[in-house]
Amino acid sequence: MPAMEIIILPTPAEVGRLAARKIAQVVTRRPEAVVGLATGSSPMAIYAELAAQVRSGTLDARRVRGVALDEYVGIPAEHPESYRSVITRQVTEPLGLDPGNVFVPDGRATDIPAACAAYEAAIRGLGGVDIQILGIGANGHIGFNEPTSSFASRTRFFDSPEQVPTHCLTQGLGTIMDAHELLLVAQGEAKAAAIAAAVEGPVTSICPGSILQFHPEATVVIDETAAADLQLVDYYKHTCANKPDWQRF
Ligand code: F6R
Repeated sequence: MPAMEIIILPTPAEVGRLAARKIAQVVTRRPEAVVGLATGSSPMAIYAELAAQVRSGTLDARRVRGVALDEYVGIPAEHPESYRSVITRQVTEPLGLDPGNVFVPDGRATDIPAACAAYEAAIRGLGGVDIQILGIGANGHIGFNEPTSSFASRTRFFDSPEQVPTHCLTQGLGTIMDAHELLLVAQGEAKAAAIAAAVEGPVTSICPGSILQFHPEATVVIDETAAADLQLVDYYKHTCANKPDWQRF
């Protein structure tokens, strides 16, 4: 039955390992899978674990296509802080992806709306995203979709008050919701309020992550500290512990 699945694990390392297993399962089923790539600290353990699997020969990711969530505007792709560079260092190289199969919005485009439209077209051209990895901000943002972002938003230019540089291109919430599956990871107490709002709160643009409640295939993998504000912790743990084998990953 389609539902948001909440998996609570004792440590951040286990969050990374289990989430990596989910990605590896998708890639094993479909070696040319389109994987949506978040940057930031939350998914780093996933990428490290996948890289270890590639090194040990248990995973072949060479045909995987990667699609970034967002990119800064005005930053050269080769700048070490660009999301293109971060993805090259953390994903493309260690997992052995073909750099030509890794797509990042063009933060240097002179025509930004055209770059946004081109990015949407590129995702469509790949046949859509099979599984989108997400982190969540303490204020509930996903991608660079800050509070009050439209749930229908497509890839666009965003002026973020908290970020330096202050402008970015981001997949919109509508774009993110088109992915076949969503996998959100969070670790640490700083994320507890955002996780509770996203998972159990009302679906509201003040917490962009709450849109996941409308997705038929969303999995949320978090550690105990990020789960601290959830009301139904016992229920999620019980459901997880009693999952039939065919639902496990
Ligand atoms: C990154 C992104 C952001 C982060 C979020 C959490 O591509 O889109 O939404 O996922 O800011 O960041 P971390 O994981 O660094 O806590």
